[in-house]
Amino acid sequence: MSLPDTSPWWRSAVIYQVYIRSFADGDGDGVGDIAGIRSRLPYLKSLGVDAIWINPWYKSPMADHGYDVADFRAIDGLFGTVAEAEELIAEAHRHGIRVVPDLVPNHTSDQHIWFQQALAAGPGSPERERYVFRAGRGPGGSLPPNNWVSEFGGPAWTRLPDGDWYLHLFAPEQPDLNWQHPDVHAEFKDILRFWFARGVDGFRIDVAHGLVKHPELPDAPARLDPVDGEPHRHVDHPHWDRDEVHDIYRAWRKVADEFEGDRCFVAEAWADTPERLAAYVRADALHTAFNFDYLKASWDPDDLRGVIDASLAMLGAVGAPATWVLSNHDVTRHPSRYGRSSAEGWSGGARYTPCGPLDLALGTRRARAAALLTLALPGGAYIYQGEELGLPEVEDLPEDVLQDPIWERSGHTDAGRDGCRVPIPWSGRQPPYGFSPDDATGSPWLPQPADWSGFTVEAQTGEPGSMLELYRDALRLRRAHPALGDGTLTWLDAPPGVLAFRREPGFVCVVNLSATPYALPEHASVLLASASVEGGVLATDAAVWLDV
Ligand code: NOJ
Repeated sequence: MSLPDTSPWWRSAVIYQVYIRSFADGDGDGVGDIAGIRSRLPYLKSLGVDAIWINPWYKSPMADHGYDVADFRAIDGLFGTVAEAEELIAEAHRHGIRVVPDLVPNHTSDQHIWFQQALAAGPGSPERERYVFRAGRGPGGSLPPNNWVSEFGGPAWTRLPDGDWYLHLFAPEQPDLNWQHPDVHAEFKDILRFWFARGVDGFRIDVAHGLVKHPELPDAPARLDPVDGEPHRHVDHPHWDRDEVHDIYRAWRKVADEFEGDRCFVAEAWADTPERLAAYVRADALHTAFNFDYLKASWDPDDLRGVIDASLAMLGAVGAPATWVLSNHDVTRHPSRYGRSSAEGWSGGARYTPCGPLDLALGTRRARAAALLTLALPGGAYIYQGEELGLPEVEDLPEDVLQDPIWERSGHTDAGRDGCRVPIPWSGRQPPYGFSPDDATGSPWLPQPADWSGFTVEAQTGEPGSMLELYRDALRLRRAHPALGDGTLTWLDAPPGVLAFRREPGFVCVVNLSATPYALPEHASVLLASASVEGGVLATDAAVWLDV
């Protein structure tokens, strides 16, 4: 099969996120790889996704599991080779699936040749200008150049034995590039061309809001300075979401447009308001952006409707499609978020910390309803691997297996993101649940729970009422139904706590977030429901798609 010629595909695409380490292990070393992805393309095809986004697969010492790139033109040996990547791209295309790798332009690995050259060349050298090196403050320069903090905890600066400090908004092994340097611009345009020439259909852009720093590197305002009563931290911030960053993306759009076909950039941009986010996806810049406001919304009708309306309005104003996302490799899986009574977990900003007791059955019911809501909204959607299996967060990983740098950098106060990165269960009754081949030499890089046999693809396939079959049905209907994907919605009158909207032609989605069952409006037939709608009644925490 060849790629569908609906253009542009990214306005309505369902993109499946492959966290490569944890998706499928082809060579039996306990870590997912390209061979594993290739072996599971038929699964992705049958699931019905349009594209895959693959987390970084480049050569890397893996201090942040690939987000520390040592060579952007090489694939890490753990995952495969450039030739295998090319074969994967071609094979995915034959299945009608597009391929969107991850690009990490804010920082490199400390093992990247440029950083190694900068270290060797010493203070004041031109090699250091490609990164952000500075003298320290205070007596003998012993204090960091400013008060910036690393997203992973601790200061954003590390001092070298020669006295210079260098900036890293993430781990010390991830020095920030200096986007005021022409070499950096030229290099990334070249990297884009390298991969576009190999057939990739776009890029997910890591930390898209962080590349440009205030040239004077002033102190940052307090992390949670409230604006209009909300904890805003990016407003006129010296290193987040600066206006100048958009010039970079305008130049990249031109590079993408040099290549035939439809390519898509998706921004990982954490912006304070939908207006600020929309700036990334203006017509001459990036194509789409993740909707983290939607991901962070609690299971609350007003919260969700507010985010949906604001997103559609602001993105619509710049002509960009909305996208919707519930989970990814950085946040607690949503059945485990929705299974808790409060949204307090987000109070620290972008990091969610589970608090309060978990009711997983409740979280799962809501996750089923959320899937139907998400896939019925106008625009594109993201599915994080394992979400279609209803996987919960693994909250009891033993401390000695934790690998996320956040665990160490937070002084063991934050377990980090490993709980949502546990390898996928495919089949069988015990670990590695088909994640690795039978003759594997290594165990999965994070241990899988002993009670995951009910979550496997094998156990859920053909099982009416399973999360997997719900996703399969939803994606099949979404492909076939002319009302779904790109477009608009009209809200329908409904009692408090019920979200109901119509899409043309003839489609209605109803989600019941109220405490009482809801009698469905008149309809020709039920297309799909997250729970039984016997007697024409929609239960609390359920959603339905209607043909009207
Ligand atoms: C965002 C990525 O999603 C996350 O996993 C990574 O640690 C940081 N960017 C740093 O690259």
